[in-house]
Amino acid sequence: MALYITNNNNISNFDSRFHVLLKSEIKKTVNTYGTIKKLLSDLIERDKFEGNFQESLAFNTSNDYLSLIGIGDKKDLSPEKIFKIGSFITYSIVNSKKNIKSLEIVLPTFFKAKELEKFLMGLFYGHYYFDKYKTKKSNLTDINVSIVLKSINRTNFKKILTKSQNVINGVNFTRLLVNEQPEILTPIKLASYAKNLSKRKNTTCDIFDEKEIKKRGMSGIWNVGKGSSNMPRFIHLVYKSRSKGKKLKKIALIGKGMTYDSGGLSLKPADFMLTMKMDMAGAGCVMGVFEALSLIQPKNIEVHGLIPAAENMPGPDAYRPDDVVVGLSGKSIEVINTDAEGRVILSDAIEYANRLKVDEMIDLATLTGACMVALGSYTAGIFSNSKKQVDKIIQSSISAGEKIWELPLDEELRPSIDSIIADIRNSATTRYGGAITAAMFLQHFVDKSIPWSHIDIAGPAYTESKRNWVAPGATGFGVMTLIDYLKV
Ligand code: BES
Ligand code: MG
Ligand code: ZN
Repeated sequence: MALYITNNNNISNFDSRFHVLLKSEIKKTVNTYGTIKKLLSDLIERDKFEGNFQESLAFNTSNDYLSLIGIGDKKDLSPEKIFKIGSFITYSIVNSKKNIKSLEIVLPTFFKAKELEKFLMGLFYGHYYFDKYKTKKSNLTDINVSIVLKSINRTNFKKILTKSQNVINGVNFTRLLVNEQPEILTPIKLASYAKNLSKRKNTTCDIFDEKEIKKRGMSGIWNVGKGSSNMPRFIHLVYKSRSKGKKLKKIALIGKGMTYDSGGLSLKPADFMLTMKMDMAGAGCVMGVFEALSLIQPKNIEVHGLIPAAENMPGPDAYRPDDVVVGLSGKSIEVINTDAEGRVILSDAIEYANRLKVDEMIDLATLTGACMVALGSYTAGIFSNSKKQVDKIIQSSISAGEKIWELPLDEELRPSIDSIIADIRNSATTRYGGAITAAMFLQHFVDKSIPWSHIDIAGPAYTESKRNWVAPGATGFGVMTLIDYLKV
């Protein structure tokens, strides 16, 4: 079930080969294929293969298999595209009936460390399938992969390989958590996964059970969670590496951990409830980052992972529209809609981060359908009180190949979440700008002196559509961006 990747300087006698090439390199590539050169160029002619991005051309001889894979023009290439090409290759093997045990991948000669890293991440990413509940398992076998690329020496190759594998282990851990069915992945189960992470070096984990949550006054989490027989948990992970006398910058990563969002008493219609097991994808992302960190073991960082975990259910004990909730911050929240629950549990986690006196915080949450209306299913929205921080995160998202777009915290919309009987209401008077008013609700709880960004991942965290480079379901969105941001 693993990929074993090595580096080679030269093209060998192949069984299975994927040859990745630019549009401009078709002629040059064909010329390297001595005996089959003529056959190959005829085929290219016949099929009008141009080498466009993700265009492929397969060529079979009696015992060999060759596939040309286009990546388009060099000037249009991006980390996102390179990642997708890598993932496309392994994902197409996972999806095929071919029993490929070893293959060779020829990369464009201009690939340097950055390109190689993104490509390898793609290979590991595509070699994933959540088939736990399938009687017929997917074609996820061990594969030996030989990468042909001269420009990188062995030591560097090894380093890049290890890094990419560690990062994607984190991403695929997130996918596993998010794909798991909600009957199994309860707040308690999520907490036990977090506890497991603390067996690793430099990683610790505190779990607050429902008693502790109440005792500490985390009433946001308690009120949202009390409607379910699966009791809520608060998870506090820390990754802290040794450093002699050096004061470390403290960063908090906060993830929404709604293990199921039925909407609560403001129950969702059937069609909207489906897939709501993914409402803990923010938490999943934070845990994926910790998985990656604990494998990479970077020095001189201190990261706090804060996860409010609960299940939003209707029932005799459920919180109600009209309730007023006073959480850890002491600020009162008028409950308008129990389906706007993410912001209620996050308010406690944000106040907890304030009290930790962190130097910066980033929260990730599948917070609003409105964000998907604004940006579509593949792009996350980001909101921030710090220009410097948000610019850095967006830069990281570009290097990581994940799409994040900034949306405004619009003061003109702020009155729509003013409440008559409490300090703030959990759902605005208008549905226009729903992603923004949700973000501004969170902002109400953030200590103004702390740089903070909120990333709404409702769209990109989960994909129902069939694409040729990624398995449907959880995507692990955000892990690669955050790892890049942490500069580990
Ligand atoms: N978990 C949902 C948001 C969501 C919707 C995530 C679709 C992924 C896909 C969230 O808790 C929610 O229900 N939000 C409401 C807020 C509204 C009641 C103010 C929404 O977006 O409709
Ligand atoms: Mg430990
Ligand atoms: Zn909801």
